[in-house]
Amino acid sequence: MEAIEIIATIRQFLRTERQFGLQSLPIAPEEMARAMLLAKSKRAVDASGPRAQTVVSAVTRSTPATLGSGPSVPPSGSSASTKQQRLAKLDEQQVRGCTKCALSTTRTQTVFGQGNPDARLVFVGEAPGFEEDKKGLAFVGRAGQLLTDMIKAMGLTREEVFICNVLKCRPPGNRDPLADEIIACSPYLLEQLSVIEPEVIIALGAPASKTLLRTAQSIGRLRGRFHDYWISGAEGVGPRVPLMPTYHPAYLLRNPADKRKTWEDLKMVMQLLGLKIPQR
Ligand code: URA
Ligand code: SF4
Repeated sequence: MEAIEIIATIRQFLRTERQFGLQSLPIAPEEMARAMLLAKSKRAVDASGPRAQTVVSAVTRSTPATLGSGPSVPPSGSSASTKQQRLAKLDEQQVRGCTKCALSTTRTQTVFGQGNPDARLVFVGEAPGFEEDKKGLAFVGRAGQLLTDMIKAMGLTREEVFICNVLKCRPPGNRDPLADEIIACSPYLLEQLSVIEPEVIIALGAPASKTLLRTAQSIGRLRGRFHDYWISGAEGVGPRVPLMPTYHPAYLLRNPADKRKTWEDLKMVMQLLGLKIPQR
């Protein structure tokens, strides 16, 4: 790709992002350009890799300090403690005091999400409910109990994965998120995913699936297969993370017959992660 094409691609990407409500960038544009150049040269040498992850993440995850004073080749990937620090900073400096939408006036507290900052698997739900708003933790009510069961069925623990939501504040009465709330809040989720850079994402329910895949398709049509989630926000640029949409545990509590389909989805994720699938 010529420099001019790279610039055009970045422009296009930024224009689209602005329509989705992006007001600031998690990484500097020159870093993005560097990432794209590196991703391209990496692809030229190693066309077989499933994702151009190491090179791109090395760049996008570098802090200005490391770029300025560190080695000329940045270290590949972020360590778990760096990810932890970046998530804590995002929570403490941006999410906790956020007033970008009206939910800030009705919440008890924000719910950032919790778990392993270096998780291989991230679950994304919709929004905090009554219990979550009270405790400041994601998925700790009835739906959360079912999510815990789903995680255990996969042979994992809640501590090993990361669990968060599209919205960080509870909509009053647990009503559905409004479009402008999703537009205001989703940059936090995108930043969380960019820091964690998991191997797989499970989007629980329609709002998470539609937000991350930027589609209007129903969950019934989306589930059952992997979709591409691009960490950079631009298709084909940087790390690609397979995303599995599935039913939300709150929906499954009302429609237990669909648990079987969700288990099929979870098994596909287990296979991708190399986890043992129980024969039952
Ligand atoms: N439902 C969600 O989508 N998220 C939570 O955290 C709890 C219930
Ligand atoms: Fe901010 Fe998100 Fe809470 Fe709205 S829902 S106030 S955007 S943290």
